Amino acid sequence: MTFADPDGHDDEREPVLQAWREAGIEARAERWDDPDVDWSRYDAAVVRSVWDYVDRRDEFLAWARRAESATQLLNPATVLETNTDKTYLRDLGVPIVPTHWASDGMPYWEEYVVKPAISAGARDTIRTTDRARAQAHAAALEADGRTPMVQPYLDMVESEGETSLLYFNRRFSHAVRRTAMLTPGRTGADNVEAQLRTPAPDQVELAEKVLAAIPQALLYARIDLVRLSDGSPAVIELELTEPYLYLSRSPAAATRLATALTELL
Ligand SMILES: Nc1ncnc2c1ncn2[C@@H]1O[C@H](COP(=O)(O)OP(=O)(O)O)[C@@H](O)[C@H]1O
Ligand SMILES: [Mg+2]
Repeated sequence: MTFADPDGHDDEREPVLQAWREAGIEARAERWDDPDVDWSRYDAAVVRSVWDYVDRRDEFLAWARRAESATQLLNPATVLETNTDKTYLRDLGVPIVPTHWASDGMPYWEEYVVKPAISAGARDTIRTTDRARAQAHAAALEADGRTPMVQPYLDMVESEGETSLLYFNRRFSHAVRRTAMLTPGRTGADNVEAQLRTPAPDQVELAEKVLAAIPQALLYARIDLVRLSDGSPAVIELELTEPYLYLSRSPAAATRLATALTELL
């Protein structure tokens, strides 16, 4: 069993390895891009903190397909391929954050978020009340061959916060409330705080509808939800590639992940 994470600042690595050892699963961390790793030596490769794929997605996906021809890849390569480009949101068939996918014909909103469809940790993401600035950022992304996502800024991320539901092999494990990332002066994943939260029934219903539409094996799935101005839940992002799992927020979460892995092996 292996991990496919880069050198790391992944503070979930040790707790996960520990829980897997306790479940009788021998595992070690490998870099996904290490050409010397023989993936066929492993029964499975579990993708974890591959935060460095964003700038080299093609290379990452080529690796995933290669690894999958040698071992069981979790999550599967087709899941990683779809999930690393947020244009999948267009085809989910459930409510998502209102999104305009071009610099042309932008709607009028009080405040905008503009982000690239391929990103993580709010990279190249701006928040602005200045429509011209939002449009310029979207146009710059397009000029760079990237797909822009223009959204209204949902200020509920500062009050209620985002709700992230964690599922291991499709079974609910725990949920957290996450604080806003696009805060003035400091933007990024470092800002985010998370605490355990009991999801509301409408959030669970939406998350499970999303999961039901994905046929592939899912060792882990994090479904990030917000609420729209009418109070209804909507998907902001599906984290199926390298989600931080907030294991430390729920005592038995790492054990539940180990159980899920055992089931899929
Ligand atoms: N439309 C939005 N309204 C409010 N906050 C947003 C919006 N879009 C993104 N954010 C903030 O930026 C963070 C990162 O955006 P997200 O779409 O989840 O992409 P990624 O996590 O891949 O960078 C979110 O967790 C949220 O805090
Ligand atoms: Mg996100």
